[in-house]
Amino acid sequence: MTDAPRDPALVTTATIETQLAHRTFRAFTDQPIGEDVAATLLEVARHTATSSFYQQTTIIRVKDPTIRQEVFESSRQPYVGGNRGELWIFVVDLHRNAQIRRESGVDTEPMERTALFLEGTEDTLLAAQNVVVAAESLGLGTVYLGSIAGDPRRVIRALELPALTYPLLGLIIGHPDQEPQLKPRLPREITTSIDTYPEVADYSAVLSDYDEVVHTYYDLRDANHRVDSFTRQIRTKPGTGRAEQAPILEVLHEQGLLLS
Ligand SMILES: Cc1cc2nc3c(=O)[nH]c(=O)nc-3n(C[C@H](O)[C@H](O)[C@H](O)COP(=O)(O)O)c2cc1C
Repeated sequence: MTDAPRDPALVTTATIETQLAHRTFRAFTDQPIGEDVAATLLEVARHTATSSFYQQTTIIRVKDPTIRQEVFESSRQPYVGGNRGELWIFVVDLHRNAQIRRESGVDTEPMERTALFLEGTEDTLLAAQNVVVAAESLGLGTVYLGSIAGDPRRVIRALELPALTYPLLGLIIGHPDQEPQLKPRLPREITTSIDTYPEVADYSAVLSDYDEVVHTYYDLRDANHRVDSFTRQIRTKPGTGRAEQAPILEVLHEQGLLLS
């Protein structure tokens, strides 16, 4: 694991050390994570902060190989198939609260609003990230899977997701079977600021050193090639992946979400 020299001003704790050592893992041994660990991670997720106390998220552990195969077909990323690591799906869930309202004859229109969907999305992402930090603190590795959105209807069908739900992210949690490098991030000066937006006049100039650092990053997914510089990735990549070309808004509307 290599990284730029650490800022000596940083204060650290065991939690912060875990967070600063974050890497995505895409290869896992066949050792299961264990029911005690799974239960612990689900408990961590349950304790995550939740917007307006609505608790609009549901986590589905995928154990049935035929369902995992369906998620793989949607994602098409090799590590999603097979049985290495445990696959969890983080679902934005406005269905549960709609049902609670229906049971009392209260209308469910608020659940169709963008604001409520965003709140559910916030809950879901925070729960997922809490699980990732906890898993990493236990020495496990994880990979988020935005790629499950390659064919979202397929995932919705496979998991029998009702209206007012959406499978936002997959996550594989497992025992690492590779040793990825730390992936260099954009400089703090341009991604954080005080009081006002940190506008930059010429990103290519400001990011030339960072571009070179990214270019030397060794991506285990394609070990034979240096990765493109960051600015080149941004020029060429957005919009090209399957998930970025999928009819997401259409599917969200079919699920009864984001209607107003
Ligand atoms: C929301 C989200 C979705 C992601 N989806 C995928 C994915 O579908 N497949 C994958 O291999 N990695 C995925 N990643 C991992 C990113 O590629 C990874 O975090 C990024 O390249 C930085 O590398 P690092 O996590 O090792 O620092 C995702 C990450 C996030 C935060």
